[in-house]
Amino acid sequence: MNTSVVDVPAGPTARSRRPVIALRNVVKEYRMGDNDVHALRGVSLDIPRGDFVAIMGASGSGKSTLMNIIGCLDVPTRGHFWLDGVDVRTLDDDDLARIRNRKIGFVFQSFNLLPRMSALANVELPLVYAGVRPHERKVRAARALEAVGLGQRMDHYPSEMSGGQQQRAAVARAIVTNPALILADEPTGNLDTESSLEVMAVFDVLHSQGRTVVLITHEEDIAAYTERVVKLRDGHIVDDYTQDPASARAIHQAHADAGRGGVPR
Ligand SMILES: Nc1ncnc2c1ncn2[C@@H]1O[C@H](COP(=O)(O)OP(=O)(O)OP(=O)(O)O)[C@@H](O)[C@H]1O
Ligand SMILES: [Mg+2]
Repeated sequence: MNTSVVDVPAGPTARSRRPVIALRNVVKEYRMGDNDVHALRGVSLDIPRGDFVAIMGASGSGKSTLMNIIGCLDVPTRGHFWLDGVDVRTLDDDDLARIRNRKIGFVFQSFNLLPRMSALANVELPLVYAGVRPHERKVRAARALEAVGLGQRMDHYPSEMSGGQQQRAAVARAIVTNPALILADEPTGNLDTESSLEVMAVFDVLHSQGRTVVLITHEEDIAAYTERVVKLRDGHIVDDYTQDPASARAIHQAHADAGRGGVPR
């Protein structure tokens, strides 16, 4: 099977910009009773390693469907998807589960923390699934929580944290396996402005560390943090542009200047 993705010129720089995500004419249809729902109608998209991308579009436009395919949680009805140069159709369920655990960190709108576990135990979970020993798990989970500014909150249960802190704990859980790709489906959808800015500041740092970050958002000032915006409408990409994310720092600064609190770095 041909797993070459796109024309990649030789050289280390070019190689590092090889698309980590490549979709060609991806179609996703759901059968609902007698009707077909056309969630994606032929999406082609390359996301190079290290990109920071916002996916936008109205409700029902196909954003989560696209994210689920990129995250190997679902497969296209038709078309091709290569993750890191590998055609995902060649992988079985075990392979896909391994990729999800090792290469991808997921963040969801509703945090999805387990309520009966401390922040530290929640963040350790992906390492439990990966078979990491208890002592190393604790060390790595603590480090991930420190990285998102929750070093003082490790023993807190989700109900003892603010929404922004819970989402930062969820981000710590997403990064604890050191994945190259972070996927976030409306990570600030349930947060107030200040908490949203805190969470976006964490994504900003993850991106600056070289990770690929793809997030879905409805909000322009969240998308402003990213370098690239992909817009979906009715299962099609209708816009795809790069932007200077400096404008987002200005938003952040304006909020800080307005006395709405700092952002952990
Ligand atoms: N499992 C499913 N079964 C049937 N139809 C589905 C399923 N998942 C999504 N759809 C349909 O596919 C279309 C795209 O859904 P999707 O969840 O991708 O939209 P979205 O852009 O994420 O919307 P929102 O902003 O509301 O989250 C919608 O019409 C939706 O009803
Ligand atoms: Mg959605």
